[in-house]
Amino acid sequence: MWQQALKSKAKDVAVYSYLEEHSKDEITMALVWKHPKGELSKYPNLKCIASSGAGVDFIFEDENRPKNLPITRVVDVMLAKDMSEHVIAAIFSYLKNLGQYRIDQVNKNWKPKDYHRISDFTVGILGLGALGSVLANDLVRFGFHAQGWSNSKKRLEGVTSFVDEEQLSDFLSTSEILVCLLPLTDATFGILNVELFRKLPQGAYIINVARGGHVVDADLIEYIDNGHLSGACLDVFHQEPLPIDHPFWEHDKIHMTPHYASVSDTNSVVPQIIENYHRLRGVRP
Ligand code: GLV
Repeated sequence: MWQQALKSKAKDVAVYSYLEEHSKDEITMALVWKHPKGELSKYPNLKCIASSGAGVDFIFEDENRPKNLPITRVVDVMLAKDMSEHVIAAIFSYLKNLGQYRIDQVNKNWKPKDYHRISDFTVGILGLGALGSVLANDLVRFGFHAQGWSNSKKRLEGVTSFVDEEQLSDFLSTSEILVCLLPLTDATFGILNVELFRKLPQGAYIINVARGGHVVDADLIEYIDNGHLSGACLDVFHQEPLPIDHPFWEHDKIHMTPHYASVSDTNSVVPQIIENYHRLRGVRP
């Protein structure tokens, strides 16, 4: 799919799948998504590693990658909009109890629950970057109280911006719905843990659409089961597909989707990959 899309938009550029016969010396740019570790070290003339998604964590996890090369990621309006739509769908499903009503229906159980309105909730977004800021703006448009936590202060209309470690507790204490959109780094690995959950208001709901590595799974289950958290909606997992014996599968307060919150659209993303390729070669497309 990617190969076809690249070939059709850059007819003068040779594009190979790593599985097909090609001269490794010829390759200057690699477009990757969870590539086999070590594969990139076979390319002596590589000048750039491009992720076909928003995340680049899987590239850094490859210890044998050629080091000191530029690494690029996708920053795409459509990807950000898709992500925002998914998170908003998850928030509404939670607010209106759609998951629970579905379970009640299966059990023929007529049981109205507490009514929730948009204005009742503050949504906190961990990470106010390319994805988080689009979500924050959309939430404000819907009438949510939106706030975000990031490394640097962000100016987004109607969104309260918290920064640094020292403001994290204040941010968490008022986030009734917490959305994780952080990049996965050594500093953020396991950030969704007991210490953090404890600082959230009673009944807070977790949405993780970033990486499975952000969550300490056992801590999440413990804090849902002890009632401090009301549940979670998860799109990403430490291991994907999630192993069939993982307790998340059967937890009635954990809703899961198969890493599908947003998917890079080739039509939208290919032009920026090609543009980067031309930049790398120092030629104007
Ligand atoms: C998806 O997970 C991405 O990083 O684009």
